Amino acid sequence: MSSRSTDLTAFARKYGPWAVVLGASEGLGAAFARGLAERGLNLLLVARRADVLESVAAPLRARVDVRTAALDLAAPDLADRLAELAHDLDLGLCVYNAALSRIGPFLDVPLADKLKVVDVNCRGPLIAAHVFGERLVRRGRGGLLLMSSLTAFWGSPLVATYGATKAFNLSLGEALWYELGPRGVDVLVCCAGATRTPGFERSSGPDGPRAMEPDAVVAEALSALGGPPSLVPGRLNKLAAFVLGRLFPRKQAVALMGSQTARLHARD
Ligand SMILES: NC(=O)c1ccc[n+]([C@@H]2O[C@H](COP(=O)([O-])OP(=O)(O)OC[C@H]3O[C@@H](n4cnc5c(N)ncnc54)[C@H](OP(=O)(O)O)[C@@H]3O)[C@@H](O)[C@H]2O)c1
Repeated sequence: MSSRSTDLTAFARKYGPWAVVLGASEGLGAAFARGLAERGLNLLLVARRADVLESVAAPLRARVDVRTAALDLAAPDLADRLAELAHDLDLGLCVYNAALSRIGPFLDVPLADKLKVVDVNCRGPLIAAHVFGERLVRRGRGGLLLMSSLTAFWGSPLVATYGATKAFNLSLGEALWYELGPRGVDVLVCCAGATRTPGFERSSGPDGPRAMEPDAVVAEALSALGGPPSLVPGRLNKLAAFVLGRLFPRKQAVALMGSQTARLHARD
């Protein structure tokens, strides 16, 4: 057996036989579905658009079992809905990928929209970590992967709420890494930089900044499970995080985040 297939088997033994990907219909979520199917995990894929979700699921069924469920992760009864969807599955991995983002000056974004961002980006992962964390700890084996962003590290003007929700995920996931690791559950927070997804292209347009491909982000994240609590994927992103975090005064880092996002906002 080659070392690659040995790695894939070890991954499936630790994090299989089933994984749930929350926010799986496109972009990084669809890439997680592909990456996990390649590693032999059966999939429960969740997002709001049933038809788009099905188009992600269909080609993967040649390889693994795939279930889909159309669900709004801002649903008031989310904990019960997630528990029900997965009640008969031997689940070893939860990936919370979904997020909402609204670019614009904080005071121009309606309060209801900001609260929806908090529901999907903070309340959702908190509930998923609770519902699935309990199950994973009970079986003594598995993983939880939360998608965060470089915006987690500094205030991010013009996406202030989104950036704050990503800081929430970073803090939550790192703390759970410490608590759940000794109980057999690996936790990882992936702080991605610009990644070429439909969501990214909608906000940045065709001439947006350099971006990583979703499959590359996913490959790095899945390899990092079981390692340190958080990961910045990509060499350029690691460099940006180092320079902004260690070499820039904090106020300059925040101003740079703001000016980058202002360029995108000006195109809207
Ligand atoms: N792309 C980037 O440049 C970038 C950079 C840093 C971090 N990230 C992080 O990476 C993750 C994925 O980003 P992305 O660019 O791939 O996002 P995206 O293209 O906007 O896709 C988001 C996914 O989440 C689902 N979703 C959104 N709201 C939902 C809701 N209320 N209920 C259920 N599903 C919902 C969407 O499906 P439906 O619309 O079908 O529900 C979709 O499958 C996010 O956590 C984001 O913060 C992305």
